[in-house]
Formats: sequence, structure tokens, C-alpha cells
Amino acid sequence: MTPHQGTLLTAHEVYKFYDRKGQAKRQASAVDGVSLDVRQGESLGLVGESGSGKSTFGRMLLGLLQPTAGTISYAGIDIASQTVAERRQACAKRQMVFQDPISALNPRRTIAENIELPLLNFGWDREQRRQRVDELLRLVGLNPAHRNRYPHQFSGGQCQRVVIARAIALEPEFLFLDEPVSALDVSVQAQILNLLTDLKRNLGLTYLFVSHDLRLVRHMCDRTVVLFHGQLVEIGDSEEIYERPGHPYTRALRGAVLSVKRTAADIEVTEDDRTPNRDGRSLSAGGCRYAPFCPLKMDICTREIPRMTDLGAGHRLACHALEKADLF
Ligand SMILES: Nc1ncnc2c1ncn2[C@@H]1O[C@H](COP(=O)(O)OP(=O)(O)OP(=O)(O)O)[C@@H](O)[C@H]1O
Ligand SMILES: [Mg+2]
Repeated sequence: MTPHQGTLLTAHEVYKFYDRKGQAKRQASAVDGVSLDVRQGESLGLVGESGSGKSTFGRMLLGLLQPTAGTISYAGIDIASQTVAERRQACAKRQMVFQDPISALNPRRTIAENIELPLLNFGWDREQRRQRVDELLRLVGLNPAHRNRYPHQFSGGQCQRVVIARAIALEPEFLFLDEPVSALDVSVQAQILNLLTDLKRNLGLTYLFVSHDLRLVRHMCDRTVVLFHGQLVEIGDSEEIYERPGHPYTRALRGAVLSVKRTAADIEVTEDDRTPNRDGRSLSAGGCRYAPFCPLKMDICTREIPRMTDLGAGHRLACHALEKADLF
């Protein structure tokens, strides 16, 4: 486990609803009441199938998307309460690495021009930028002599190194790594993962690492969060979640026996279905979203959202079967 000093980011009851075009009064919830802490210096893995809200959640933590409800705090400060100038400074501390490095880079700009973009935005002069770009190229294992090459002259793995160099240019504290290796050739995936591990250790970074692959998250991350259709179903130490998954969905992921093909967009919430929360906002339909697919389903599962139950040592999961019948 990586030593950590405190909480860097906190999500409290965070929801994100997207309007569904052409369907009045109907919305799809991409993130449904997620509460969690990201600890300083840790690598937190976010796992779930396609459409489970991983990117939406990460973008909200970065301040790129506004939650429909709930609060996100960075270093103890509610980011919604910040002024534009404060938000701009704070955003420099939270950066993102995208899945596809080729589309993340501007093909008409050189490698150096791509990397220096955030430095330009923050007013660095030409010489400062030149020095910093060379330093960054070395940090990510690229040759500064290649600074004037274009993205198409680089391999996918090299392009992802460039994307990583740009992400760390302003010395961020937090990186949201949204499936950073899944678009890469298997032969270079390990190299990029090693680079990310080295950078985290050397620069004292905190990671939110998204993947579909529970095994990869176990390898890369201190703790694992499992999302199902926007709901947090299980969280805990990565080793524990992998070796002793408690939630039926995590077990399905672990066994790689996914038969669920629906996306969160298929789950609709109408004005009438929603349960108002304490603030009177209409938020989520009742019930566990995994219920239609769950081998342990009981009546209550379709009526009430299960509470998070603490199994000890930070291992928590939301399942009525555990709460009511102790079936585990
Ligand atoms: N801008 C948007 N407008 C409407 N719906 C959206 C928008 N962005 C995402 N969604 C929907 O929200 C849900 C969650 O999407 P999201 O991209 O966060 O999932 P994900 O877990 O990152 O999936 P993947 O593994 O495929 O990247 C999906 O059903 C998606 O269709
Ligand atoms: Mg995504």
C-alpha cells in the first residue's frame, strides 16, 4: 500500500443526470449518489463496464463537468464555491490522461507544441517553456532531440508518453487516468503502466485509474471502487476486492462472466419514479440497479437502494443480500 496523508478529493452524494433528447421529462442518470474519498498519494481504481459512469465521475472530480446534485471538495474546498480564477488555478492541479493518445494530440502541432500548451495558457515565456518541455520529455522517457517531430511520426505508446508529459507539465497533484492503456498495443501497455508507476512515486501524484479490468486495477491500485450503472456497489483494498469480492456484480466481474449488455442510458427515470431526497430534489428511482441481473435478488432489491455496509478495514459494499439474509 502507498502511504497516504489525508483526503485530497471528496465526492459527497454526487449525481449526474443527462437529458435524453426528444424525450420530455425523461433523463438518464450516469452517476447515482456516489460518495467516496480519494486519499492523498493513493492510486484509486475505478472499475465497471462500459456506460457505468466512470468517465462522467472522473470529469466531475476534475471540475470539467458539474454534478446535477451533490458536492465535490478538493483539499477541503467545495469546488462549486470557487471563483473562476480560483477554479483555473485548482484545475491545473487536476489533470487527465485520455484513452486514445492519437486523438488527444493536435496532429498539426509538433510534440513540443502539444506539450507546452498548458504552459502557454499559464503565461510561461519561450525559454521557460523550452526548458520545461525538454525536462518533461526526459521524464516520460522520450528524447528531447525529437521535440520538433509530429505525432504521426511517433508510435501509439510514444504518443501516450507525450500526452502524459502534457498532463504533468504544470506539476499537478492529481491525475485522472481514463483507461490510459486500453487503446495501446499489448506489447507497450506494460511500459506505459511502469512509467505511470514511476511518475507517481517520483512526483508524489494521486491517481484515479479507470479500467474495465479488475486484475489490472488490482496490480496498479491501492483501493478499488466498483460502479454499476452509476451506483457505487463496492469499495475496498484492491487485493481484498479481487480475492474476496462481496457484491454479486464484483463477483461477476471477477469471474469475467459478464452477461450484462445494457448501458446506463437504458435505465430511465421519470418524474414520477423518483424519490425526492432531503433537499426536495428528485433524484433517483428506488432499488438496486443490479437487481434485474442478480442471482441473489429479493423483493426489497427492486424497492430500496441498499445502504453501504462496512465489512471492516475499509471494505464496504451495498447489497440487500448481505444486509438482510447474510448470504455471503
Ligand atoms: N454528454 C452526454 N450526454 C448524454 N449522455 C451521456 C453523455 N456522456 C455520457 N452519457 C451517458 O452516461 C452514461 C455514462 O457514460 P460514461 O462515459 O461516464 O461511462 P463509462 O463508464 O466511462 O463508459 P466507457 O467504459 O464506455 O468509457 C452512458 O450511458 C452514456 O451514454
Ligand atoms: Mg469512459
